[in-house]
Parts: sequence; C-alpha cells; structure tokens
Amino acid sequence: MGQAIEVHGLVKQYPGLTAVDHIDFQVASGSVFAFLGPNGAGKTTTTEILEGLRNRTEGDVRVLDLDPWKEGRRLHRKIGVIPQDFRFFEKINPREAIEYYAALFGTDPDPMELLGRVALEDKADSHYDTLSGGQKQKLGLALALTNNPEICFLDEPTTGLDPHARRAIWAVIRRLRSEGRTVFLTTHYLEEAELLADHTAIINHGKIIAAGTPGEIIRRLGRPERLVIEAPPSLGTYLQDQAGIPAEIHDGKVEVPLRAKGDALRVLNAVASSGIPWEGFTTAQDTLEDVFVRLVGQMDDGALKSEAAP
Ligand SMILES: Nc1ncnc2c1ncn2[C@@H]1O[C@H](COP(=O)(O)OP(=O)(O)O)[C@@H](O)[C@H]1O
Ligand SMILES: [Mg+2]
Repeated sequence: MGQAIEVHGLVKQYPGLTAVDHIDFQVASGSVFAFLGPNGAGKTTTTEILEGLRNRTEGDVRVLDLDPWKEGRRLHRKIGVIPQDFRFFEKINPREAIEYYAALFGTDPDPMELLGRVALEDKADSHYDTLSGGQKQKLGLALALTNNPEICFLDEPTTGLDPHARRAIWAVIRRLRSEGRTVFLTTHYLEEAELLADHTAIINHGKIIAAGTPGEIIRRLGRPERLVIEAPPSLGTYLQDQAGIPAEIHDGKVEVPLRAKGDALRVLNAVASSGIPWEGFTTAQDTLEDVFVRLVGQMDDGALKSEAAP
C-alpha cells in the first residue's frame, strides 16, 4: 500500500510562534489517520498545509504525490475538505448546496445519493439554518464528497455534537474507509481515535509526542493491565508483606499489575487466604485518553517548571 500523505521536517512559524515544529508522519492510502492534540496544538495549521491552504515555513510535504502549495489546483480536484467550524449559507438547503459545490468542481453527482450516504435524505429540502449540529456536519461530509475524493480531510468533525450525532459521523467515516478512501481526521476525542483510526499521532505544542496504532501507543506508554479489588487497604498491606505481591492503593481500591498469565489467579488465591473481606474485582487497562492526559500533563508540568525557574 502506498502513502497518501508524507510529511518530513514540517515547520510552520507565525510571528513569534512556532506552531508546527519539525514533525514527520505518513498516512497509508486507504487508512484512517487520527491527528490528536489539545486546543492550539497545531492540528488545523498542519491540516491546512496538507490541503494547500497555507504555505509552510520549512519541510517536505507530499499529498497524493503532489506539493499541496505549488500544485494546489491539481490537488483540490482529488481531496474533500470539511474545515473546522464548517458553516454554509443559511437559506440554502442540502440539495442546493450539493448542486452548488458540484458546479464549482465541475462534477455531476446525484445529490440524493450523496445525502443518502450521510443519512441526510430526509433533510434534502430543509434550510441550512434549521439543521441540527450533527446534520450540519453530515452536510459538510456530503459536500466533501461531491468530487469523489481520494482523501477526506475532516478537521474536528464531531466537536460539540451529542453522542448520537457523533456515532452517525463515525459510521460515515467507516464507510469512507471501506470504499478505499483515505481519511485524515483531527479530533480531541481520544476514544474516537481508538475506535476509528488505523494510525494516530499525538501533537502537543507543535511537536509529535507519540505515534503508532492506538494499541501500540497504549502498550508502549500506558500502565500495564491491573486487577482492581474493592477491599480495605489492609488487604494491600497483606498482599505486599505476606504474599510478596506488588499491590498499591489507588482511589481507595487495591490494585495489582497483571504482567503474566496466571497472575490474576495467584492474586485471587492470596486474597482468599488473607481472610480479609472484599467486595469484588475488575480488571483495568489504560485507554488512549489515559495515556494522552498523562503525556500532555507531564509536558505542561515540565514547561511550567522551566518557566518558573529563575
Ligand atoms: N493565522 C495565524 N496566525 C498566528 N497564529 C496562529 C494562526 N493560526 C493559528 N495560530 C496559532 O498557532 C497555534 C496552533 O493553532 P492551530 O493549528 O489552530 O491548533 P489546533 O487546531 O490544534 O487547535 C495556536 O497557538 C494558534 O493560536
Ligand atoms: Mg483546530
């Protein structure tokens, strides 16, 4: 599988700010790539450079083997874009909006077929300003598809939507992938990346701080799987001192890391032998969000400390 997007040493400087600071990544054709980061991290800047809407300060960028800035006209025929905070004329309806975009691109899609793909047929004739937030985003997706693009760039397509509307957008993203398109998605919802993305990169203050499949990032940077037992702290002490099991107390519960097969059985046997009453147990594993919050938090703590230093 070839690369749809290749980025090497990308830098974007605004006056007094390096918004994107020497980043590298690739996106394989036909995959979903999630570009994650807190507000102000540099996601939209990067996305707009890939779309050919902003020039870069330094670095090499290829999108579908084109230079987005120098060959933007050719690129724009092959990509679909929903900008962050997508808006449209208030008194136009989705059917007319698609006709308008099709005229701009010189394409001839069937508006009802496109609206069907995003489950918006029933609103084909409703004014834009009467659509819900989720319906507006679905229209944005339909518009991004008017030129049958190879890559769809979706900049925070689900921000501010309710859980039901977010799931509807996820279904469209899955369908785009199943059609063999490449999806470049930015989001600050981590579970979204975990559910949808083949690969992710986490950006903070313009630098990529982790990259890989969500599973790889969790395995590499997350805490190991653990057994969480609802029991008094004395059980933790017993496990440590009497059974040689590395137990810790977290949020009033006893936690034991599970590193090997059989660890859980060994721990539960020790719990039974202790005679200490316990309520129940669960197993816990870090999510991408746990990893993200810790990584970004550590970086920001570090930055605060170095700023505070004399
Ligand atoms: N046109 C611009 N001129 C100056 N600074 C900008 C401009 N666009 C974005 N920035 C700054 O660059 C940083 C990254 O912004 P952005 O790429 O929009 O982040 P994100 O999309 O991750 O929230 C922010 O500090 C933002 O204020
Ligand atoms: Mg943004």
